[in-house]
Amino acid sequence: MNIQNRIIALKKEIHKHNVNYYVYDNPTISDSKYDILLKKLEELESQNPEFITNDSPTQRVGGEPLKKFNSITHRIPLLSLANAMNTSELEEFDLRIKKQLEINTDIEYVCEPKIDGLAVELVYENGFFVYGSTRGNGEVGEDITNNLKTIKAIPLKLDDNYSIPSLLEVRGEVFINHIDFKKINKERKKNDEQIFANPRNLAAGSLRQLNPQITAKRPLRIFCYAPGMITGVEFKSQKDFLDTLPKWGLPVNPLITLKTGIHSIINYYKEIEEVRGQLTYDIDGTVFKVNSYSKQKLLGVRSKSPRWAIAGKFKAEQIQTIINDIIASVGRTGSITPVAILEPVSIGGVLVSKASLHNQDELDKKDIRIGDTVIIQRAGDVIPKVVETIFSKRPHNTQKYSLPKFCPICNEKVSKSVDESVLRCQNYYCDAQIKGRIKHFISKEGIDVDGFGDKLVDQLVDNNILKDIADIFHLNEKEIASLDRMGDKSAKNIINAIDASKNITLSQFINGLGIRNVGVHASKILDQTFNGKIENIINADYESLIVIHEVGEIMAQSILGYFKNEENKNIIQECINAGIIFKNQHIIKDSKLSGKNFVITGSFSNMKRPQIKLEIEKYNARLSSGISKNTDFLILGENPGNKFEKAKKMNIEIINEEEFLKMLENT
Ligand code: IVH
Repeated sequence: MNIQNRIIALKKEIHKHNVNYYVYDNPTISDSKYDILLKKLEELESQNPEFITNDSPTQRVGGEPLKKFNSITHRIPLLSLANAMNTSELEEFDLRIKKQLEINTDIEYVCEPKIDGLAVELVYENGFFVYGSTRGNGEVGEDITNNLKTIKAIPLKLDDNYSIPSLLEVRGEVFINHIDFKKINKERKKNDEQIFANPRNLAAGSLRQLNPQITAKRPLRIFCYAPGMITGVEFKSQKDFLDTLPKWGLPVNPLITLKTGIHSIINYYKEIEEVRGQLTYDIDGTVFKVNSYSKQKLLGVRSKSPRWAIAGKFKAEQIQTIINDIIASVGRTGSITPVAILEPVSIGGVLVSKASLHNQDELDKKDIRIGDTVIIQRAGDVIPKVVETIFSKRPHNTQKYSLPKFCPICNEKVSKSVDESVLRCQNYYCDAQIKGRIKHFISKEGIDVDGFGDKLVDQLVDNNILKDIADIFHLNEKEIASLDRMGDKSAKNIINAIDASKNITLSQFINGLGIRNVGVHASKILDQTFNGKIENIINADYESLIVIHEVGEIMAQSILGYFKNEENKNIIQECINAGIIFKNQHIIKDSKLSGKNFVITGSFSNMKRPQIKLEIEKYNARLSSGISKNTDFLILGENPGNKFEKAKKMNIEIINEEEFLKMLENT
């Protein structure tokens, strides 16, 4: 065998062992023998560098630590799943499906375990893994390509004994199994490092490492379960799709199966709940998907989840603990909520020390008091709730709890409005409300400023540096660096993150404003209806709002009220003056530029960089930071950097600003 073929054979063999170990939990070779194979490959490659390919197992850990992750706009949003909490909700789901499809016969469902990890998207072009991202907010995720490459179960190149699509986007769940989780925590404890609360947190922390060397030390695994955009191969059903993935070398969970009719899927739900404790990884339920893709298409999707799928969630774990105190917390809209301060307990692997008690009525109904022993439960990622008090364990001298008559933060009187039952602090400038508004504005569902934590907002408001949302654009590094637990470097990162978040969609901005009754979905509808122009929304009258299908009387009044307020309008204007630009939401999916990769270098006279990025993304193409073999075009500006030389060497097509503009015109 010649050297090149020996290298190819070794690569295949190593990948096979990776799959046996990381996918099937069934190693067929000792660790030391595996290391010998890898060493041999390294040796051959170092003597024959011309045969080193990107898909070699020796190339899994590479790349410098990043300063921050680039963002990636998913070509197709990563949706979430609606939940069924019990078997009767599964029955309702099945009935809904039949009704909508207008059929009486049993439906075929693909039944899958619901892996409790992190959703990611892998993108393969002509069989090669080119990049991958986190789910993010579903529309925009983070570029974690270098971290994903360290996951040994992810093939860097698809097996080509089965026809390969030119584009394959595949979604899956990254997780870590129990043994590895325990091992890592044990090691961390020994080194006096903070331990991870549960396997999911460990997997998340590992994937979001800026240094891929660290990720490489965490034995992450993956199961793939959903298609993104695919060109070149057609699938008729979810089963068809899932059966094909392993042929390309992509891992699929072995408990997945096809069942027909509601009774069979309820049985599956019960069976999986029974074996849950024996699995080597965490699951938090099952997922049922209508198998036929044509039926899925007929059923369609809601704003956040498909109508053709449902998660059959398992019962939340319950546990007893003591209420040490009850405090009144003030939300961004002034709402006063009682919160139980608990004796910390671990539930479902997470350490819990607070639980919401919702409102006074709920407190009264359950008669929950300070000192009580209570049962709490955590359902998914929601805040734990107090299920009930154990009266037999109640100590003497406890008293009924009542929410205060004055705001615990600003001391203003609290009251209920005529039209609602919630108690609110009526002072719009209460520090708690100011903090809440700013936290909401910079959150993932708002303008999404990376790394700007709640504690920082608290300090900035307490020090009178921030008074409203627009103030964040006037922050400077010095001010931030002078605060507790902040340094020059973290201050710089925050300022950069604020700058980066100036380029957002109008719907993110509208949602970030926190207009009462206007949530994520309504914000999107407003963005679309008013063509992405904020001035159209500001100037909209009652008639133009109420005609929108999703906008009702209450929401319309709320929007009008918000924009009638001059101060709100001034704050928005200040944000725009500070450089906020609204992204074009309406991506043209099948344009000539669809799927192309652009890189830019130098400065430009007609367009600013953010604008170029917007244009590129509008046509479903991608702007990357560096030249690689996947780059299609380099846009050349004045005073280019070394990307220019690199592109020339690699024979990449180089265009100037004018040519780029022409290209857009012709697209
Ligand atoms: S399908 C179009 N299948 O659950 C539907 N999701 O609660 C997209 N998850 O974000 C998801 N196992 O992170 C799907 N077999 C499975 C899953 C699964 C775990 C996660 C995924 C998703 C979340 C929704």
